[in-house]
Amino acid sequence: MALDEHIDRVLFTEAQIQTRIRELAATISADYAHTTPLLVSVLKGALYFMADLTRAMTIPIAMDFMAITTYGSAQASSGAVRLIKDLDEEISGRHVLLLEDIIDTGLTAAYLLRTLRARDPASLRICALLDKTARRIVDTLPISYRGFEVPDMFVVGYGLDYKQLYRNLPFIGVLKPEVVAS
Ligand code: IMP
Repeated sequence: MALDEHIDRVLFTEAQIQTRIRELAATISADYAHTTPLLVSVLKGALYFMADLTRAMTIPIAMDFMAITTYGSAQASSGAVRLIKDLDEEISGRHVLLLEDIIDTGLTAAYLLRTLRARDPASLRICALLDKTARRIVDTLPISYRGFEVPDMFVVGYGLDYKQLYRNLPFIGVLKPEVVAS
């Protein structure tokens, strides 16, 4: 079965995602025009978001990556996070923008913020491609930039996975129930 035959419904098309990312890139480029921000993303979900957002930005930027594993089921995070790859760069005194693929309960982002804040950056903000506000537990996150609000559904594509698959879909959609059940 071809990959897109696993999809029940497309929520955001490739064109919608790219248009929104160009808008975000323009806003962020203007807001950080007088600095050289460090864009930090979390592997692997924000992979394409980092690649497309940074290419649409018009100011000099640096980028760095972290990798984490979250304990929990395939579809929900427990908030228990382990850092498996730390940043290469020092962030003290720098303007850091954390790129997130999706903020669901907010527990992962809260952990990352605590970790980064302890290193004394000049500023620390969040840019989330998707925001599932209905499921938020931590409601004090500084989400300065947001791509789309998503309903309380498990979504895949454009970096987001289900059991490590579907990241390479160029759009964001919902899996067929029989795929999730199998
Ligand atoms: P949180 O800690 O509950 O905010 O969860 C954040 C992480 O859970 C994201 O970075 C994703 O890896 C994963 N996640 C949450 N919702 C979804 C979804 O709908 N699809 C794919 N991954 C998700």
